[in-house]
Amino acid sequence: MRRNRPLRFLITAGPTREYIDPVRFISNDSSGKMGFALAAAAKGRGHRVMLVHGPVAIQPARGVRTISVLSAAEMLAACRQQWPRQNILIMAAAVADYAPTRTARTKLKKQPGPRALRLKPTVDILEALSRDRRPEQLVIGFALEDRNARRNAEAKLRGKRLDAIVLNRPETIGSERASVEWLVTGRAWEVLPASSKLRLAQRLIRAAEALYAEPRASAESASP
Ligand code: CTP
Repeated sequence: MRRNRPLRFLITAGPTREYIDPVRFISNDSSGKMGFALAAAAKGRGHRVMLVHGPVAIQPARGVRTISVLSAAEMLAACRQQWPRQNILIMAAAVADYAPTRTARTKLKKQPGPRALRLKPTVDILEALSRDRRPEQLVIGFALEDRNARRNAEAKLRGKRLDAIVLNRPETIGSERASVEWLVTGRAWEVLPASSKLRLAQRLIRAAEALYAEPRASAESASP
């Protein structure tokens, strides 16, 4: 098998946790499997991989470097710190969109009647890193959609100025197999048929390599 030159991949995976108090948090069902499979596939192709992940129950492939984080703010800080030395970002993490406005320092006590929780938006890590990139850097996002899937994913591709987006559906969460759709800016949708997350990840890594090797519109528009 002919290999491309080794690249540096920054891959994110898993959920984030936004703490309400020391023992309670807001999170989601992401298992991290897709992001970990992407990291394994990139490593398998001879690339250098930094995997920034939230709390998950799986182990990374050998040779994949990891940074474990909890909250969206921690993931943002780790990614910002890593991004300057990377070539490709693949943002597979299920980052919480909102966090409590404050985290109580001690466990909240039960009180009679309803109780409201005030939330503030988290920073969109993908958008922030896409904005803050060198022309050569490639940015690939994910979109999890349960309705108007393609239209919503296209809006994310444009809005976050991505080079490509992977569209998946809620059924994919936690499953061993997945079918996704792939859209590169300026091209048509491509359906990647159902297969194991590792096989899918291998296809996506090869697609990312090919894209990295091409001149890009987003790279041109991002250049000064
Ligand atoms: N993402 C991110 N930071 C956030 C939220 C999302 O980097 N605070 C990234 C995800 O990792 C994914 C992409 O943005 O690559 C799209 O995430 P998704 O949850 O599908 O969409 P959102 O942009 O959060 O929008 P919505 O939840 O309204 O669909």
